[in-house]
Amino acid sequence: MGGRPVSRRGLFLGGAATAGGLAGGYVTGRAATGRPPRERPRDQAPAAEPFHGPHQAGIATPPQNHAAFVGFTLRPGTSREALGRLMRLLTDDARRLAAGRAGLADAQPELAAPAARLTVTFGFGPGLFTAAGLEDRRPGIELPGFAVDRLEDRWNGGDLLVQLCADDGVTLAHALRLIVKDARDFATVRWTQRGFRRAVQPRGETQRNLMGQLDGTVQPSDLDRAVWIADGPAWLRGGTLMVLRRIRMDLEKWDEADEGAKEFAMGRRIGDGSPLTGRAEHDDPDLEAVDGAGLPVISEVAHVRLARTADPSLRMLRRAYNYDEAVSADGVTDSGLLFASYQADLARQFVPVQRRLAESDQLNLWTTPIGSAVFALPPGCGPGGWIGETLLG
Ligand code: HEM
Repeated sequence: MGGRPVSRRGLFLGGAATAGGLAGGYVTGRAATGRPPRERPRDQAPAAEPFHGPHQAGIATPPQNHAAFVGFTLRPGTSREALGRLMRLLTDDARRLAAGRAGLADAQPELAAPAARLTVTFGFGPGLFTAAGLEDRRPGIELPGFAVDRLEDRWNGGDLLVQLCADDGVTLAHALRLIVKDARDFATVRWTQRGFRRAVQPRGETQRNLMGQLDGTVQPSDLDRAVWIADGPAWLRGGTLMVLRRIRMDLEKWDEADEGAKEFAMGRRIGDGSPLTGRAEHDDPDLEAVDGAGLPVISEVAHVRLARTADPSLRMLRRAYNYDEAVSADGVTDSGLLFASYQADLARQFVPVQRRLAESDQLNLWTTPIGSAVFALPPGCGPGGWIGETLLG
């Protein structure tokens, strides 16, 4: 054997590396030195998402790994003027935190960096317009009931939404704390919903939800038509409407279904997300195709058939997160999807799709909407402005 002689210590470290100890950037060293393992080196250049712009961040932003959605109830007597003060304060927090800087009255400033692509997005629910005496400027943000709904009040509604997303869980928890503290004089927390996506996955690849499906393949191609409001109330131009649905998944039952049943329900393959009529994830589903027996290849009750919008410019933008809460004593998980969609027009985009899904989607065998909330998300702002200024200023 040629080359340099291999020391006993080298051999030992080599063995540790093969066992995974040194792979992937981990510095272990415990076996070699007796010291506890050090942390994995963090990414060299933690990224920040721009806060300023015509639209709020956190909507068209490539989804971060973690999300927390907070629905607030305004305290009685919170006036339009008080709401203006609140939104100035929260905008200031959001602007600083997105840049990895501490908030003004930040009790734990060392947690503000890295920014980890933090975005803080604000939305106004029906009650905010009433409190501000601005009912006449309220857009259509109420949904009809749907046959599948089993809504629990603890996940419904909200006067004010703050959506926080970041690639780092500590950054997110710190931002959430600061925002909630600064909102305390004006509002109480009605619900908090936390979600996550795959953290280890090449950027741009579609994520898998907890049912194992590739979720998020078909999205609008033109956000200016599908998402951003161009007409309608002047204060909302450049903003959008958001629907947040908490949808529970019966994963125990799903685990019992075979692959054929799962693919029949979806109209797409689990493995690669391709439509049953195609070969690759991004192939267009052929809803006309029939099999040898004359039956549609993508069934009449398949989720993708019913969710499909004939006019692609009317597609909603979906930005879903998984949730997975405490496991019950007998081992049943509390899991599902925080389905978040953003669209310019609920009546033309969200409602017809949700109606069709409620009537006959085969996926309803395993999924149940248990929470529902709708918000108007104002446009973004510049360095001297604040979110909500167009309505409350
Ligand atoms: C837990 C509940 C749900 C699950 C697991 C789920 C899963 C999926 C999956 C795997 C796809 C195919 C891949 C893709 O294009 O992303 C899809 C497509 C889609 N889903 Fe859902 N979905 C759920 C609820 C909903 C709801 C509530 C809506 C709206 C009311 C919705 C609207 C859509 C739309 C618009 C598409 C794209 C259809 C197309 O144009 O091809 N989904 N969903």
